Amino acid sequence: MRDRWIIIFILLLTGSFLLTVVSAEMPPMKSEKYQVPSEYPPHELGEIVRLGRAIVEQTNVHPLSKEYVGNSLTCSSCHLKAGTDPRAATFLGIATAYPAWSPREKRVITLEDRVLNCFMRSQNGMRPPLGSKVSTAITAYITWLSSGNTIRMNHEKPLGPNHVRPLKLRTELANAKRGATLFSNQCADCHGSEGTGGEAGPPVWGENSYNTGAGMSRNDKLAAWLKVAMPPDETNLSEQDALDIAAYVNSHDRPEFVLEEHLPEAKQLGVYRW
Ligand code: HEC
Ligand code: HEC
Repeated sequence: MRDRWIIIFILLLTGSFLLTVVSAEMPPMKSEKYQVPSEYPPHELGEIVRLGRAIVEQTNVHPLSKEYVGNSLTCSSCHLKAGTDPRAATFLGIATAYPAWSPREKRVITLEDRVLNCFMRSQNGMRPPLGSKVSTAITAYITWLSSGNTIRMNHEKPLGPNHVRPLKLRTELANAKRGATLFSNQCADCHGSEGTGGEAGPPVWGENSYNTGAGMSRNDKLAAWLKVAMPPDETNLSEQDALDIAAYVNSHDRPEFVLEEHLPEAKQLGVYRW
């Protein structure tokens, strides 16, 4: 009788130990629903959120943002469907990760700072002033896309719970030569054989593309994104294909990133460094 209780006790102990291990391994908040809210907020707040969405979709031509953009991309070029596509660098749920530790800036940054970083790097432009209408509108729109989600912040990196997962393949295994053939077969129709874009797709290299400070300029980041984002209607690249194509795309020239050239004069800046 006593033995039986001891066995049950041991089983319970191992069970709860295993449960702790498993839950520590699980990605955060799997049970949470990340979705576009069914309604805009009322009044002025709703208007700003709508404005933010419009800027995200027309960043390079919108009157409020175009002066801060140095290429022909929009936020939506990479954050597909204005960031509502759940896989390709989604904006769904990401406001829950901020304030977050940023290894790049070596400080804790806000969601607004993160938005402004994409202007300097992915948009090859100038950092809009903190608190400006353009910056507030985009940040309000992105925050709205986290409505109802639990704030957790992120003490490791400025990335939301649904960020693009890294490939398992080692980046050194990239074969740009093989990537060239794949690119002309699967990408050139829309992005042009010279990569400079056209009617059907934006430039992927050259002076109107993202600069060397952008996440996409790293082969591992670009490959992981391509795997879930391109070609738009049939995203079925293997890891090797995605990596080879990424290496080929990033082997071409693009604007060189020099931080100081993307920061406005001090009085326009707000605070960039602590
Ligand atoms: C050239 C592609 C590209 C463009 C253009 C771009 N971004 Fe990004 N952005 C990225 C990538 C890649 C990431 C990292 C996403 C990931 O790993 O899931 C990122 C990350 C972000 C994040 C943090 C996401 C998170 O999970 O916390 C925000 C916010 C953001 N971008 C906002 C913007 C805004 C606003 C614009 C337009 C002004 C913009 N981006 C333009 C590629 C781009
Ligand atoms: C059917 C046309 C089409 C095909 C095929 C296609 N793309 Fe795209 N691509 C687009 C469009 C359109 C966007 C911008 C998304 C948006 O604005 O909604 C885009 C965006 C991109 C971007 C991010 C923005 C930029 O220009 O840097 C990259 C990188 C990219 N594509 C690479 C590729 C690669 C590599 C392939 C081949 C595997 C590919 N695409 C195939 C249409 C296409």
